[in-house]
Amino acid sequence: MEQITNFIGRYKNYNFPTGQTTAEYIDSLQSFEIRDSDIFLVTYPKSGTIWTQQIIISICELDRSLNEYPNNFEQMPWLEYTEGREDYALRPSPRLFASHLTPVLLPPGLKDKKVKIIYVMRNPKDNIVSFYHFSKACSDLATPKNFKHFCEEYLTVNVVGSSWFDHIREWHSKRDQYNILFLTYEDMVLDLKAAVIKICIFLGKNLSEAAIEQVVEKSTFMNMKKDSKANYEFLPQERVKGDFMRKGKIGDWKNTFTVAQSERVDQLLQEKLGDLSLKFIWE
Ligand code: PPS
Repeated sequence: MEQITNFIGRYKNYNFPTGQTTAEYIDSLQSFEIRDSDIFLVTYPKSGTIWTQQIIISICELDRSLNEYPNNFEQMPWLEYTEGREDYALRPSPRLFASHLTPVLLPPGLKDKKVKIIYVMRNPKDNIVSFYHFSKACSDLATPKNFKHFCEEYLTVNVVGSSWFDHIREWHSKRDQYNILFLTYEDMVLDLKAAVIKICIFLGKNLSEAAIEQVVEKSTFMNMKKDSKANYEFLPQERVKGDFMRKGKIGDWKNTFTVAQSERVDQLLQEKLGDLSLKFIWE
């Protein structure tokens, strides 16, 4: 199998992309000072991160508890990437962070301090298809030869990040050690308002009905696509050529997967996560 070369390397079962971080910085997260008021959004890549980011930011903005930043990436940076890290200690509370990391790589203070963590999971077939299209568009990632090849790379963990299966297992099996709200991308598609309300309750934000409706409006696929703070078109063209906001649907995998590929994922799900009794919505 062809090796993907643009990783900084594999560390604690995680493949880090080039250009965005260093091994030293990842190590330094073990002593990163966490505050009780920090809010974390944790996802496996392509599971609805920028969507949930928009919801959390909109809720906190309406609650008037945030400083202004030019866009959602700066307002809620990925903790594992070095860009912007200089001002983290100076930021007023609440600080918002996103992360794709597994628990072992994140600051230990996250569990000691009972920081609020929102974890979003997406069904793995749509996740693979979304990841495939993004890999074609993003210069930080290896360009896949074709879907068949990419699917194989994903299932054998030769893509940026960890194994999807490990990510889900790690976060679910440690749920008692963290203050964590689990959501699924699919439930968010089926009932966005219910997801917004769940997040408000978890964050302890008492928004009016009108404010909740405002958050929902700002977070629909169509409105986010037009929102220059939220749609990631602010990233340089040479870094991401395609659209972060691609289709935003459940079941797009059916247009790409073969029956054999779909059965392989079903089998791996059963083997690797069968005991967790997770519920997936496929269409
Ligand atoms: S990343 O690169 O990890 O931050 O990507 P991530 O944001 O996790 O995932 C991108 C997918 O989320 C979809 N998306 C949405 N779907 C529905 N509604 C809204 N508002 C929304 N915003 C983003 C986005 O379209 C990507 O999914 P695909 O299937 O590729 O369209």
